[in-house]
Amino acid sequence: MILQVRQLTKEFDGKAVLRGVDLDLAEGQVKVIMGPSGCGKSTLLRCINRLIEPTAGKVLFRGEDVLRAEADVRALRQQIGFVFQQFALYRHLSALDNVTLGLRKLRGMHAREANEKAMHELQRMNMAEHAHKYPAHLSGGQKQRVAIARALAMDPAVLFFDEPTSALDPLMSREVISVINQLYMDNITMLCVTHDMFLAKYIADQVLFLDAGVVRAEGSAEELFSGHSDPRIREFFIHEHHS
Ligand SMILES: Nc1ncnc2c1ncn2[C@@H]1O[C@H](COP(=O)(O)OP(=O)(O)OP(=O)(O)O)[C@@H](O)[C@H]1O
Ligand SMILES: [Mg+2]
Repeated sequence: MILQVRQLTKEFDGKAVLRGVDLDLAEGQVKVIMGPSGCGKSTLLRCINRLIEPTAGKVLFRGEDVLRAEADVRALRQQIGFVFQQFALYRHLSALDNVTLGLRKLRGMHAREANEKAMHELQRMNMAEHAHKYPAHLSGGQKQRVAIARALAMDPAVLFFDEPTSALDPLMSREVISVINQLYMDNITMLCVTHDMFLAKYIADQVLFLDAGVVRAEGSAEELFSGHSDPRIREFFIHEHHS
């Protein structure tokens, strides 16, 4: 098991946002987290890699408790690649340099080796021909593919996505969904927050429905999307489908 989350709780100013979340992620598995706005999806991802400190609960990464005071947070974050809705690329760096930066600064790679590795990951994202462009000259879908290449370049054990297609129009979304699907075929372990039912159907081994800080249901995309017995879930997906 890569990740085991147990009874994870997070309170902001005494208000519980996560209320005892359990989640397992096995090697090569892809789980998608869905749920209403504000239910705690981003908070959950951020607690796991300790961008936010949880209030209570356990997070085991490959069996090791990462919430211990003496846990190596930097090492943990290197094991978890993070892809955000808004790409978070450096504007003053080319696509290639956005990908090589971490390799040189965190991994201590020399320029040539870093460039080779970065080009390999950009190629995987069908972005090799745009390697020397700056973010301002890339479409949203292209920027997101650079961001994914950057995350992959660090050889993370797992990739986290927080709404990777939310800032994209439908056409650009399809490009990004297609490369994420490629990663799925390559057995990359992923945990993906999304509102995109199309993306979820494509990649999810399992969909987890988070509601007001608790996991309300877990199942295949089909099980959750079509006529679930829980009316709240049924209503949510009918609404999402038309939004
Ligand atoms: N740093 C913070 N301080 C106080 N409250 C916060 C903080 N971060 C998040 N919250 C609150 O926690 C709740 C969950 O937020 P979160 O961003 O995890 O939701 P989400 O499920 O990702 O929503 P969305 O689908 O809109 O992205 C919200 O009510 C939010 O206002
Ligand atoms: Mg969010």
